[in-house]
Amino acid sequence: MMLDRAIIEVDKIVKTLFTPAISKRIHPDSGIAEGQLSVAEKKHALGLMRVNHCGEICAQGLYQGQALTARDKTNQKSFQNAAFEEIEHLAWTEHRIYELGGRTSILNPLFYAGSLAMGIAAGVVGDKWNLGFLAETEHQVGAHLANHLEQLPEADNKSRAILEQMKEDEAHHEDMANNYGAANLPPPIKKIMTLTSKVMTSLTYYV
Ligand SMILES: [Fe+2]
Ligand SMILES: [Fe+2]
Repeated sequence: MMLDRAIIEVDKIVKTLFTPAISKRIHPDSGIAEGQLSVAEKKHALGLMRVNHCGEICAQGLYQGQALTARDKTNQKSFQNAAFEEIEHLAWTEHRIYELGGRTSILNPLFYAGSLAMGIAAGVVGDKWNLGFLAETEHQVGAHLANHLEQLPEADNKSRAILEQMKEDEAHHEDMANNYGAANLPPPIKKIMTLTSKVMTSLTYYV
């Protein structure tokens, strides 16, 4: 049984990192015309979308860590739904990156591994910390998306539509984690998370 479980988990990791993500919902930018972007604007939008894509890769690691360590399995359905929405976010950002003429970050496996490790570590300490970690992550991602929405080139309505829908989804995920009893993380942990995400965003914008 342990081996079955291990195979399923490894399969998830390989799928997350190396196969295109699939979205059940229609991509939020479908039906929106491509805007007129200068070369510099396109490059900037691409950098931002690469950061957001890596953020979604990290979300996969966290949710997988949550699923592996959760002691209370009664709410797993809600978490599976949220995790599936994160896969859709992956699909949307990935597709947009290709449309902008770029590729996803080469650092994705590294940040994925880090997030999975953190998700597992938080879960080992206890469900409420794991949930607290999830809620804080969703909160920080939401703030981040708000910032990127301001930074996007004016004419890039396609990326904007994607980030707006993601922001809405992340707010629901944060509420969900809080409703299931997320603990408020100690300020030093929040600080470490902010610093980690700063490192991630400044690197993946370029590579
Ligand atoms: Fe997401
Ligand atoms: Fe989320």
